[in-house]
Amino acid sequence: MHLDGRSAIVTGAGRGIGKEIALELARHGAEVVVNDLGADRGGAGTDNGPDDEVVAAIQAAGGTAMAAYCSVASYDEVGRMVAACAEAYGSVDIVVNVAGMLRERMVWNMTEDDWDAVISVHLKGHFNVCHHAAKLMRTARHGRIINFSSDAFKGSVGQCNYSAAKAGIIGLTRSLARELGRYGVTANAMCPLAATRMTVNDKVIEGMKRRLDNALISQAQYDNFMAMPGPEFVAPMVAYLATDAAADVNGQVFHAERGRIHTYFYGEEARSIHKQTDGGLFDLDELLQWVPNTLMSGIPNIAPKQDA
Ligand SMILES: NC(=O)c1ccc[n+]([C@@H]2O[C@H](COP(=O)([O-])OP(=O)(O)OC[C@H]3O[C@@H](n4cnc5c(N)ncnc54)[C@H](O)[C@@H]3O)[C@@H](O)[C@H]2O)c1
Repeated sequence: MHLDGRSAIVTGAGRGIGKEIALELARHGAEVVVNDLGADRGGAGTDNGPDDEVVAAIQAAGGTAMAAYCSVASYDEVGRMVAACAEAYGSVDIVVNVAGMLRERMVWNMTEDDWDAVISVHLKGHFNVCHHAAKLMRTARHGRIINFSSDAFKGSVGQCNYSAAKAGIIGLTRSLARELGRYGVTANAMCPLAATRMTVNDKVIEGMKRRLDNALISQAQYDNFMAMPGPEFVAPMVAYLATDAAADVNGQVFHAERGRIHTYFYGEEARSIHKQTDGGLFDLDELLQWVPNTLMSGIPNIAPKQDA
């Protein structure tokens, strides 16, 4: 099997996308630490149940797994989880950071706690796991890190905390790729699309219905949303990135959903203007004249002002 002899830590693996990834890695022979706090969609509460069920499912299928119930937001607890993986399975070969939650509000309503909670679980949570695992991977001169970003990195209404964390995760991932590549460790990011409690739940469906009734979205957009594919379609690409065959796939960002995987042009220079006179100092009057005709030509306001 492709991942025989490899050990993996999958965070947020009690439900949704993380669960499918834990099952998929185990199916391909990896020994899996199944991490999940058992939190609700907003990140509150704890429940060992979902984690235990995934461990039991892997074991029932003949695989090897153990549970870790800690929060990825805790630097010390994550350190203990990584050490436990190394002790039980002899190494930490694969890390998949999937744990996540949402606290959605417009920026003017967002509390400091909403901001801090989302940054702690997503951005700091990723750092915690990557940091502790990277120490072992660097020494072992082998490792696969797969981090979970989101298309929300492009900007998302009501999710400025989440969007900032997910964009940060791409920066983190690309930095890890550059720092660790020379030690045989790769780091890549995934932007999934999958129906889970995070994306398709009663409250969200209600909101979509309201938008449809108010003609803010078309019937086709509504139908498309309701037919969102399941989390199992994301897992195979993660397994691929974990294999030895993906040794030179590093620092990349992928989108995965049913029937479609794509890359992004991310952070590459697109259009540019140059000035060679005046020591390269652009003058405001020049920018007022040039920018609309060059850098911004044909580029719309992503959220134009609405009529009152
Ligand atoms: N579902 C999508 O379409 C989608 C789109 C873009 C990005 N994502 C990202 O994919 C990841 C998985 O999302 P999902 O849709 O499967 O969500 P989900 O809510 O189904 O699963 C998330 C899991 O993370 C766990 N978790 C929450 N906080 C935790 C913490 N502090 N420590 C450990 N575990 C914790 C939860 O208990 C839950 O089981 C998230 O990072 C999410 O932001 C999902």
